[in-house]
Amino acid sequence: MPLTIAIDGPVGAGKSTISDAVASRLGILHLDTGAMYRAVGLCALKNGLDLDDEKSVSALCVSDECRVDVRYENGAQVTLLNGLDVSREIRAQEVGQAASSVSRYREVRQVMVDRQQEMAKSQPMLLDGRDIGTVVLPSATVKIYLTATPEARATRRMLQLREKGDETPYEEILKEVNARDYQDTHREVTPLRQAEDAILVDSSNLSFDETVEKILSIVEAKQ
Ligand code: DC
Repeated sequence: MPLTIAIDGPVGAGKSTISDAVASRLGILHLDTGAMYRAVGLCALKNGLDLDDEKSVSALCVSDECRVDVRYENGAQVTLLNGLDVSREIRAQEVGQAASSVSRYREVRQVMVDRQQEMAKSQPMLLDGRDIGTVVLPSATVKIYLTATPEARATRRMLQLREKGDETPYEEILKEVNARDYQDTHREVTPLRQAEDAILVDSSNLSFDETVEKILSIVEAKQ
């Protein structure tokens, strides 16, 4: 079986950027599975669906109107919706919320999980998400649960937003982080949780580089 690394954790723990750095140091591809749920969320928004309507969201997800694909350009993930590159569009705050909503549904999750397992079958890969160690790759070579306190995650998010000129107040960001944590850990279908055999990495007091090094050392020890 090819090398598989599962990194799960709550919103704002830095999974995506940390995973990118770890995968590139190891010379393997990184699949950001959240991007796939975001593409479904975007599709549902574009079609004007009520995100609480499980039936219509699920029907859309399995239809030809909502083809989510991933391709790699120079090692970097490009997320496609119906053949169009939506990698930037899916980063909007509103799309993140929509992704969290649509990811509650069993059928949506099944389509995504099948696609993710297919991709990780034939090549060494690092996948990050919420259910990688528990559902997508239960026998991953290495499982990491990457987290940080809600306050640390909200502070990081605030600094990122400030860089883009977005002045959303800290309290509002913290509220959003807590709301997403609640939704992701309380949904009925495969809620976010640490796999029993996952190694906990708390990055609250670690720099970006320290977190990357810590994960690389865990991978090295496992191999
Ligand atoms: O990691 P992210 O914020 O881009 O993910 C967006 C949403 O998608 C997140 O709120 C929960 C959902 N998600 C999921 O349920 N399972 C995954 N493997 C990845 C993301």
